Amino acid sequence: MLEAAGADAIHVSIGMPESGGYISATMDVEDCFNVENAAVIKEYVKIPVIAVNRIVDIKEAVDVVEQGKADMVSMARAQLADPELVNKYLGLNKEPVYRCIGCNQGCKDKKARKKITCMQNPLLGREELVHFLPATEEEKKKKILIAGAGPAGLELACNLARRGLTPEIYDKEPVPGGLVNLSALAPCKKNMLSLIKSRVEFLAWNGIRVQCGVEVTPQFVKEKNPHVLVVATGSRPAVPEIPGIHGEGVITGDEALTAGGITGRHVVVLGAGLIGCEVADYLAESGNRITIVDVAAEAASSLNAFRRNFMLKRMSRYSIEWMLEAQITDVSLPRVKVLQQGEEKTIEDADLLVVAAGRRPVRALADGTAEGRKVLVLGDAQEIGTALNAIYNSVEPALQIFD
Ligand SMILES: Cc1cc2nc3c(=O)[nH]c(=O)nc-3n(C[C@H](O)[C@H](O)[C@H](O)COP(=O)(O)OP(=O)(O)OC[C@H]3O[C@@H](n4cnc5c(N)ncnc54)[C@H](O)[C@@H]3O)c2cc1C
Ligand SMILES: Cc1cc2nc3c(=O)[nH]c(=O)nc-3n(C[C@H](O)[C@H](O)[C@H](O)COP(=O)(O)O)c2cc1C
Ligand code: SF4
Repeated sequence: MLEAAGADAIHVSIGMPESGGYISATMDVEDCFNVENAAVIKEYVKIPVIAVNRIVDIKEAVDVVEQGKADMVSMARAQLADPELVNKYLGLNKEPVYRCIGCNQGCKDKKARKKITCMQNPLLGREELVHFLPATEEEKKKKILIAGAGPAGLELACNLARRGLTPEIYDKEPVPGGLVNLSALAPCKKNMLSLIKSRVEFLAWNGIRVQCGVEVTPQFVKEKNPHVLVVATGSRPAVPEIPGIHGEGVITGDEALTAGGITGRHVVVLGAGLIGCEVADYLAESGNRITIVDVAAEAASSLNAFRRNFMLKRMSRYSIEWMLEAQITDVSLPRVKVLQQGEEKTIEDADLLVVAAGRRPVRALADGTAEGRKVLVLGDAQEIGTALNAIYNSVEPALQIFD
């Protein structure tokens, strides 16, 4: 029909309001999920067909064309995440690729941000404002010690490397990544790991190795005696003061994601924010019955509509009871008392209570380690936020590292 009407090409997007979250589909769907639709249309028309949507890797794009599934491929977010993508594929730029992770947090979330940015490319939208001026020879001699190789510490290290500086970066865990490693355990979140992979590769490319399994202590700082200390030590779960909450059978969301083997149980999740919902999603997928309790009226309200819709739809397949506008008043497993809109209720058969009720910054290292040096606190250690914020806010400090 379109061909008969004179169309020169068909761009097989899913671009209608009715198709909602699929227009710029998120990490909740497989890469290249829409290519087969282009392939079907190509069988029936003679005009060029363009495949689009979550094609993020140029090699995948080349395969689509070589396999005859489309004549052309369109890549939008992949090039927002890495404007050098084509040059890198052609070997004209040897730096590692920054792969679009499909979070839609920076490029599509109008609710959270007035201006466009990108989880992988925090310069997006401010290219003309940020210039990584090369450090002077004097500056290159100054030691910069970064404690914490989560997104904040890693991004700062990368931006310092762009200026020709060589910070030392340490993490107490055996692998870099911080909370991103936990977030990647939730259903459909494995793409989060690309945030870490690209940055660690970029650092390696600049001759900087992330030193893992090393806890930065005040003594360590004293011995290293850096010119600048960067505290990017992240956060820990907050546990609200509720009678019984420190008893047996109560764990944090972080522990629930890493424990493994939690299955066939009735789990009450305290907290329906992003982390609470992802923990519930993970535990529901692992075969648990879930009751999720939060004082808020809406679940995961901070999450962009695209990801939120996919997540809530996925969760609706499982046995999950939502108790919103409700607060837990007492814990004595298997009983959990809840006050919901003035009405007292009791959950009688809870096996486990998972606390996902916010986080607190961890920045003790910033206290007492100054001794004449500059101390910079970044990421969740400064203010609890998101990986997007941690990355976005680690650009400017690299420009003013010695100021
Ligand atoms: C389940 C879950 C899902 C999430 N989903 C998303 C999402 O979809 N999008 C998003 O934007 N954000 C998400 N987040 C939030 C995001 O992961 C964090 O905001 C982000 O990781 C904060 O980065 P950071 O570098 O400040 O801290 P962290 O990631 O916490 O990293 C801090 C690092 O410091 C290290 N460290 C601490 N103390 C020391 C020390 N003394 N010496 C050496 N190393 C030390 C830690 O081991 C850690 O690796 C999620 C979080 C969770 C838990
Ligand atoms: C920031 C942004 C703005 C967009 N604006 C439009 C638009 O104005 N019109 C449109 O048809 N598609 C628009 N799109 C959709 C893209 O063209 C593309 O079809 C979609 O993002 C899926 O492709 P991708 O996975 O390569 O990003 C936009 C996408 C992004 C990320
Ligand atoms: S903000 Fe996320 S989805 Fe958007 S281009 Fe960047 S990495 Fe991709």
